[in-house]
Amino acid sequence: MVTQSVPDAPKLYSELASWFHLLSSPRDYADEAEFARSLLAEASSAQPKTVLELGSGGGNNASHLKAHFNLTLVDLSPEMLELSKKINPECEHIQGEMKTIRLGRIFDGVFIHDAIMYMATEDDLRLAINTASAHCKPGGAGLFMPDVLRETFVSLTTHGGHDSDAGDGRSIRYIEWTFDPDPFDTTYTVDFAYLLRERNGPVRVVHDTHIFGIFSRETWLRLLRDAGFDARAVEDPWGREVFIGKKS
Ligand SMILES: C[S@@+](CC[C@H](N)C(=O)[O-])C[C@H]1O[C@@H](n2cnc3c(N)ncnc32)[C@H](O)[C@@H]1O
Repeated sequence: MVTQSVPDAPKLYSELASWFHLLSSPRDYADEAEFARSLLAEASSAQPKTVLELGSGGGNNASHLKAHFNLTLVDLSPEMLELSKKINPECEHIQGEMKTIRLGRIFDGVFIHDAIMYMATEDDLRLAINTASAHCKPGGAGLFMPDVLRETFVSLTTHGGHDSDAGDGRSIRYIEWTFDPDPFDTTYTVDFAYLLRERNGPVRVVHDTHIFGIFSRETWLRLLRDAGFDARAVEDPWGREVFIGKKS
């Protein structure tokens, strides 16, 4: 049998990071960021001013949330932090691992968007939730937005991409294929095929495999409760379930 080796870190967050905003455009995040803003505000005892985002990536959500909050952005990837700094120069950026980082200060709210999908085991998810809890003040809100739960997973193929308007002649098109080889473990795979064009040059194809964690609603709510969040699941406008909790 031929087994395919999976790289530890997706190419998208290292050698291909400069393409990220053409795959996932900051402009497309306005509605999702507004949904996140309203949940953080509703769940907090007082209007939140300071928010920590763990796994902030290209800063797409941050590019909208920064109008409402003083943001601190943490990401594992130095390349993604550089990209985010370009569109969010006024935000604090810190390189760190969401499972272990301790900044030694607390925030009015803590937010983890789709980066939470990289927590591949229940222990990883617990560590990331504990990091959020350790940085959230009592009465503050924790917001966690996984793409999917064990109960809602369906295998999908989607496609997209953008043409750069920065005058550099770059364009990307991609297909994204989700597949769960073992429905009894806590991961599924997301395979991307990126088609990358620079100026009028030939198209280059890159395959990138992402391993995502997948957990039941009960697991999420138990881990959030154990970490001191009075949490509930909420359906977002796009039919996904996300978790919002007030820190006790
Ligand atoms: C899809 S991007 C996030 C995009 C983000 N939602 C935005 O608004 O731009 C996922 C990010 O998670 C980061 N990441 C993955 N595992 C991480 C970890 N263990 N700790 C911190 N960041 C992590 C990656 O480096 C990547 O930048």
